[in-house]
Amino acid sequence: MSMVNTEHLYKAFGRFMAVRDVNFSVEKGEIVGFLGPNGAGKTTTMKMLTGYLPPTAGTASIAGYDILDEPLEVRRHLGYMPENVPLYDEMRVYEYLAYRAKLKGLYGKNVRSEVGRIIDRCGLNTKRKNMIRTLSKGYRQRVGLADALLGTPELLILDEPTNGLDPNQIRQIRELIRELAEEHTVLLSTHILSEVEMICSKVIIIDNGEIKAADTPEQLTGSLRAAGRVSLEYKGDLDVVMRELSTIPAVKKIIYEGTLPGGWQRLVVRAEPGSDTREKAAAVISRLGYPLRHIYRHIPSLEEVFVEMTRHD
Ligand SMILES: Nc1ncnc2c1ncn2[C@@H]1O[C@H](COP(=O)(O)OP(=O)(O)O)[C@@H](O)[C@H]1O
Ligand SMILES: [Mg+2]
Repeated sequence: MSMVNTEHLYKAFGRFMAVRDVNFSVEKGEIVGFLGPNGAGKTTTMKMLTGYLPPTAGTASIAGYDILDEPLEVRRHLGYMPENVPLYDEMRVYEYLAYRAKLKGLYGKNVRSEVGRIIDRCGLNTKRKNMIRTLSKGYRQRVGLADALLGTPELLILDEPTNGLDPNQIRQIRELIRELAEEHTVLLSTHILSEVEMICSKVIIIDNGEIKAADTPEQLTGSLRAAGRVSLEYKGDLDVVMRELSTIPAVKKIIYEGTLPGGWQRLVVRAEPGSDTREKAAAVISRLGYPLRHIYRHIPSLEEVFVEMTRHD
């Protein structure tokens, strides 16, 4: 059973279709990055999963419970940190979390122990008695995360958890999420690519309300056209080398990039995405008895994947 499973989800705002035929799943224990440009439909999708927004068509299940038929079970199994965490400015951190814990059905001693545990977990010990309005953005995000964690739900849905934070705060929240992922399944949205590369085991790319790709970061970067590119520098005859290299099976095109000081020829070998022609290319040069001083296979970043998938032209 998947932790999250969406079935042909649609959401229309008037005539505008914000989410279109969205299908994806998140398995137990995964930490999944939900990635897309502003306005792609990330928040809308998350709001449907958490029961804050009814789908126009389609449905989804959380931990096996249907979001339309069993909304209470759904709420019990997930913790949601919305994009703009609604916090009560005039409450103290401890007070707020205790209030939220009661709303989630905890009572008596359980409230005290659960809130204490979560405050510890989120590094909020020194702030427990502070008024929420006095907290920095970083600590406010921690309170939002603590709220989502109350009751230890199996699934955490975090909408841009590092939005608006400075680099140090981003690193701290990222570390916290990484730790949380040991005990929870996590679905987090972001438009920060390095974040996804660092913590996510799977990436879902959404653009214009549609899913463009869903795979591991390695698979996504490996499938790009640029992934098969090898550059090399050798000294010797250009025509002979070009001809010999073109006989390597995966090779599609060889581009001469120029001659560098000292007579080194620079070539770029384009091959099938995902192939690695380094060994064969090096063997060709060495069979000809030419010196080779550089060979490099291009590894695309997730940023290149993102640009290729969400480019509008
Ligand atoms: N309540 C709403 N009414 C009308 N349009 C909306 C509403 N909420 C979101 N949208 C539109 O739906 C699209 C997706 O928005 P959103 O899900 O917030 O994107 P993201 O979170 O990926 O930035 C955007 O074009 C946004 O303007
Ligand atoms: Mg959003």
